[in-house]
Amino acid sequence: MHRLTNRQILLGITGGIAAYKSAELTRLLKKAGADVRVVMTPAATEFITPLTLQALSGHPVHLQLLDPEAEAGMGHIELARWADHILIAPASADFIARCAAGMGNDLLTTLCLASDAQISLAPAMNQAMWRDSHTQANIEALKSAGFNIWGPDAGEQACGDTGPGRMLEPTDLAERLAAEFDYLALSGKTVFITAGPTREPLDPVRFISNHSSGKMGYALAQAAVDAGAKVKLISGPVNLAPPERVECVQVETAEQMLAASMEGIETCDLFIGAAAVADYRPVAIAEHKIKKGNEEIMELRLVKNPDIIATVAKHIHRPFTVGFAAETRDVIHYARDKLTRKHLDLVIANDVSVPGIGFNSNENQVTLVTAEDAITLPQTSKRLLAKQLIDQIAQQLKTNNE
Ligand code: PMT
Repeated sequence: MHRLTNRQILLGITGGIAAYKSAELTRLLKKAGADVRVVMTPAATEFITPLTLQALSGHPVHLQLLDPEAEAGMGHIELARWADHILIAPASADFIARCAAGMGNDLLTTLCLASDAQISLAPAMNQAMWRDSHTQANIEALKSAGFNIWGPDAGEQACGDTGPGRMLEPTDLAERLAAEFDYLALSGKTVFITAGPTREPLDPVRFISNHSSGKMGYALAQAAVDAGAKVKLISGPVNLAPPERVECVQVETAEQMLAASMEGIETCDLFIGAAAVADYRPVAIAEHKIKKGNEEIMELRLVKNPDIIATVAKHIHRPFTVGFAAETRDVIHYARDKLTRKHLDLVIANDVSVPGIGFNSNENQVTLVTAEDAITLPQTSKRLLAKQLIDQIAQQLKTNNE
């Protein structure tokens, strides 16, 4: 089921008594980490309320093709593109017939036509309807068009008949759906990543900060999502759009970054601290803009900020914890010192004295430092480097969990 983490599943529900099982199916898919959007035909709403599916999926249910309000949110073409997989459960005889004929006379059939995603149908109907030659011809046509047909099961039916036509159980459908996706290096893992600088205000218009652009942390977030993880990106102020499928929490100060990092930390499997956190903040923030006085020298009083990554590494439900070390000299020595002092599992040492890498550059070059090893990765784009780092970290995480 871990393969469903972060997958975008469009669940279509058509009119049939088995529609009540779609509530459990939605719950199982959500529990497995999938993002589920539900589309119901008008007949389906006679069997189960959209409100139930909305509560379980966490999104409004899509009901109409020509609904200006829904189109203003996520329009039908956008919805068709959004889906990684379309699962229609239950699929009624009428829906199967319309789909096989290539019709687009409601929202769900239109989505099937408009989407490039794989489509799977879980038929559910009376046994005689299932055996009917029209239904069987439609099923064969859909199979040859590349649709998956999952089920139906045989047994006692709601109408009192016995025979084939029962929808497969939600657990069976969820497992079949999961098997449609590859198992990736971080499938099923929850990853928190800090990125960018922090800003420590002096007064309403000034702050202490640094040159971090967030590029390294954002590239890591993208690579972690691509490796199948559910990612929370805790970002200081940067000019970057968060990667798709990433939950991004925007913060300004180190204290806010700490609070966002600790929220839900017990669910986190891997924490990566790529942010350049200010070690100190002003003792007090002036209420109004500090005015220029006559003095030639102005002194600032600073107080130590909490160490976010050290706090994470001390937590009782401690995730695998990876820090960065931005250094300008004795890079490996200081990185190893941080590894021990902050109780980290791995430190990514970054020599920020080298031009063209480190802060606010498109490329980087780092050394992975553990108690025993120091592995240097060659200079490359932050995007490619992030992929290599995530591969290496995923391997170490796996070894650690064995
Ligand atoms: O954002 P970019 O422009 O792409 O640049 C990337 C980067 C150079 C910022 C990044 O690769 C990097 O090296 N990040 C860490 C920068 C840093 O501040 O390192 P540090 O040696 O001061 O901190 C060591 C570790 O402790 C880091 O994981 C840091 O996130 C963490 N830390 C530091 C202080 C603090 N109060 N809390 C922390 O969690």
